[in-house]
Amino acid sequence: MKTNKNILVTGAAGFIGYHLFNRLSQQGDNVIGLDNFDYPCGAEIDCMRGDVRDATLIDKLIGEIDVVYHLAAQSDVNRSYIEPDLTFKVNVGGTENVLKACKKHKKRLIFASSCEVYGTAQTKSISEEHPLKPHSPYAVSKKQAEEICIEYATKYKVRVSISRSFNIYGPLQRNDSYGAVIPVFVKRISEGEPPEISGNGTQTRDFMYINDALQAYEIMFKSDLYGKPINFGTGKDVSINSLANLIIKLFDFDLRPVYEGSRPNEVMKLRADISKARKLGFNPKISLEDGLRSYIDWFKKED
Ligand SMILES: NC(=O)c1ccc[n+]([C@@H]2O[C@H](COP(=O)([O-])OP(=O)(O)OC[C@H]3O[C@@H](n4cnc5c(N)ncnc54)[C@H](O)[C@@H]3O)[C@@H](O)[C@H]2O)c1
Repeated sequence: MKTNKNILVTGAAGFIGYHLFNRLSQQGDNVIGLDNFDYPCGAEIDCMRGDVRDATLIDKLIGEIDVVYHLAAQSDVNRSYIEPDLTFKVNVGGTENVLKACKKHKKRLIFASSCEVYGTAQTKSISEEHPLKPHSPYAVSKKQAEEICIEYATKYKVRVSISRSFNIYGPLQRNDSYGAVIPVFVKRISEGEPPEISGNGTQTRDFMYINDALQAYEIMFKSDLYGKPINFGTGKDVSINSLANLIIKLFDFDLRPVYEGSRPNEVMKLRADISKARKLGFNPKISLEDGLRSYIDWFKKED
């Protein structure tokens, strides 16, 4: 959907930012990407090098555009335990810079929050009213960033949408030591190595394919529920054990997962209640099995 807007995507060299940048550009919008290349996804992108912690730069850029998709973040939970200071400065301080500029220039903002703000589900699925009990420094930083978004929406009428996405996966997601579980499992299994599961593998996640995540961003852009976080996921969860076995099956290999120590404070259950998103028109279309097949096809071509 072409919007005829000038758009800034922060974190455009990252996994989701790259896909969003391309989708918006292909629609014919005028898109500027910004990234400091701290942890890019590796695909080539015509993107400005700059840092969201640089308030002067952010003010200047936002003065020149209509809409900001703010995705730049230290996005890794494990790294946030090692570098909490950096995580807070980028995720909270950077978001505050973006909000201040949006307030000053009266610009529209879509903020990428995360299901990590909830902590382990206390109910079968997690609605937006579920208590927020973030476990990791990353999760706390996203909660704090959300709080500032909500304050700017209510006090200063900044038009900020907040998306609480559950686990997103797809092509270009990193599979290195800080990589997400699906790319890491796919890489290991493709090499004939057993997937390594932390803990006993009963922890569950709600995995959403990148195309559905992009649909979520389109819905957020159209919505006027400013300052009100909205969940985006599939509404279904799968255990890490089942995920590992499904990927093994898709490769048609004879492997058994191996188990290593639990991660400190790991979130044990995440499944989105997406009733609110559905009311806004969100309709996740890609099943886990289809999404994994697409991802594996892409991975095999890249390898
Ligand atoms: N991947 C998921 O499952 C998921 C789920 C929910 C929310 N999110 C959020 O969506 C956003 C994008 O996630 P992703 O998976 O693409 O992460 P990513 O790490 O691949 O992308 C983040 C990008 O931000 C850049 N960046 C980091 N610090 C920066 C700074 N100071 N200034 C400018 N750029 C900086 C990195 O270099 C990277 O390219 C993040 O805010 C993340 O927290 C992701």
